[in-house]
Amino acid sequence: MSITPAARSGRDHRPPLLAVLDAVDHAPGAAALRARSYELLGVAAGTRLLDVGCGGGLAVAEAAALGAVAAGVDRDEEMIAAARRRHPGQVFAVAEAAALPYEDGVWDAYRADKVLHELPEPGAALAEARRVLAPGGRAVLTGQDWDTCVLDAEDGALTRTIVHARADRVPSPRVARRFRGLLLDHGFGEVTVEVSTAVLTDARWLPLATGLAEAAVRAGAVSPEEAAAWTTDQTTRATTNRFFLAVPLFTASGTRGR
Ligand SMILES: C[S@@+](CC[C@H](N)C(=O)[O-])C[C@H]1O[C@@H](n2cnc3c(N)ncnc32)[C@H](O)[C@@H]1O
Repeated sequence: MSITPAARSGRDHRPPLLAVLDAVDHAPGAAALRARSYELLGVAAGTRLLDVGCGGGLAVAEAAALGAVAAGVDRDEEMIAAARRRHPGQVFAVAEAAALPYEDGVWDAYRADKVLHELPEPGAALAEARRVLAPGGRAVLTGQDWDTCVLDAEDGALTRTIVHARADRVPSPRVARRFRGLLLDHGFGEVTVEVSTAVLTDARWLPLATGLAEAAVRAGAVSPEEAAAWTTDQTTRATTNRFFLAVPLFTASGTRGR
């Protein structure tokens, strides 16, 4: 699925999140990155896996196909409704990452993919992850560092301003570089960090770039004229096969201490 203008809606013209997630799910390397998360979690027949901030529920369905007893939670009722529609038979619930509706120690694997940046206090979610995991259980956190979006553009300084202005609209934009520290701070051991960079050069990814400029205008960081010039440059790149957007995605894993 591509992010087409038809997928856009809403007052601020941002694409609906689910359409963006569907596109990202099929981006180069995305399936391999999800598979790596199941590997790091040791998913096997009977593994009790909780996917927090599950969105449309794809990871829950994939983990279940590997034999896991999986469930997904998300704070957004519409996401949970979509997940239930798309994956009937799987278990989904509306819940907050920092207040999970489960007893202590009932999960073997905890996964939060592109979620912690949305939390003003990611540490509260990590404390909850530790609580619901059984001793020896595994956690995997995946996400981008929002300051680190690499775009080719004529105006490098303006690009930096736009990327940072977009990052500043995210509650915890640099949480990915803190994944390791957060896991250690909340009683996880055997902590590892890997990085896999999504390199997007196809014109269908142009809306991701233009969305950054729109957000920077909304933040008052750049003028509409500056954003228009930058967008024109990006559009020209997209139509001449010179578009380049690279996003490093960090994956951290850890084992819950006893
Ligand atoms: C960028 S999406 C990622 C969805 C999914 N993990 C994926 O990889 O496609 C972030 C998701 O986290 C959910 N979310 C944000 N804050 C949350 C919170 N405090 N508790 C639970 N879910 C949350 C959002 O509703 C959204 O569905």
